Amino acid sequence: MDDIVSNHDLEELECELDAAAAKESRKARRRTAIQDIEPGAEWNDVEHAILTRRSIRKFKGRQVPAHMIRRILEMGRFAPSQGNNQPWSFVVIRDKAMIAEMEQYCVAVCKNMTATIDYTNYPPGSEQRAAIMENTQKLNRDNPNSFHPVPMTAIKSIANGRFAVFHRAPTVILILMDKRGVGVPEVDIGVVGTNIVLAAQSLGLGTCWIGFSKLLSSNPALVEKLGVQAPFEIAEAISVGYPIGNPTQQAISRQTHQIVWWEDGNKEILY
Ligand SMILES: Cc1cc2nc3c(=O)[nH]c(=O)nc-3n(C[C@H](O)[C@H](O)[C@H](O)COP(=O)(O)O)c2cc1C
Repeated sequence: MDDIVSNHDLEELECELDAAAAKESRKARRRTAIQDIEPGAEWNDVEHAILTRRSIRKFKGRQVPAHMIRRILEMGRFAPSQGNNQPWSFVVIRDKAMIAEMEQYCVAVCKNMTATIDYTNYPPGSEQRAAIMENTQKLNRDNPNSFHPVPMTAIKSIANGRFAVFHRAPTVILILMDKRGVGVPEVDIGVVGTNIVLAAQSLGLGTCWIGFSKLLSSNPALVEKLGVQAPFEIAEAISVGYPIGNPTQQAISRQTHQIVWWEDGNKEILY
């Protein structure tokens, strides 16, 4: 009798075997996820949009149909956010006079900034140069992100009229952030904007994030005129239009960041 396995035991054994096989197969799938994609396979539509998107700084004068802007904003609306708190709202500006007013204000701020922080405007050895250098160094220490050399160079170009803040785009979308958002609402703003620029890319539109839009915040009258109301504040902007030329062919350098990869008790460093 001992050799005879009951139906019940068999069923249990089969279940266990099935579970073990499923576990093995899950593990194998995890290990080979990347290799599973055939080498040399075409990028899918999402990957293609990610890889071909470039920041566009030259736009055709032609306006983008309103329904396309609604469509890309809809992609933003479905972005994930911490606790699904969706701490954003939008201001769409397609009014030439209003965009010009925003541009002029930002240029004025940049002119003012270069006068007070750009020591290269003054001769070496002069008292003014030393005073401004000291001021700039202090600002840099206190706000290392804002006074990084990249925005500083751009600020000078904006002040000199060599670089347009909104790139003369026919549509500018301000992304407003509710500062009371859960966790780090700035991250949610990055996510919603990413959905918008990728959706725009997939529809043949060009976009550029405009971090300099923050400069508008120092003008409460303009902020109010734009329709920004507390608890919202301007977090970012995205310029949208039809790109001139074929900017997707421009190669943009990217670093190869280190990836620490833990698996099955091993730690590997990948690139
Ligand atoms: C949050 C954020 C703010 C940015 N602000 C500006 C900006 O004010 N002006 C601008 O011309 N580009 C701006 N950019 C675009 C970056 O310079 C650009 O993404 C980067 O150089 C990489 O080039 P790519 O977008 O063509 O891949 C911004 C990008 C991000 C993500």
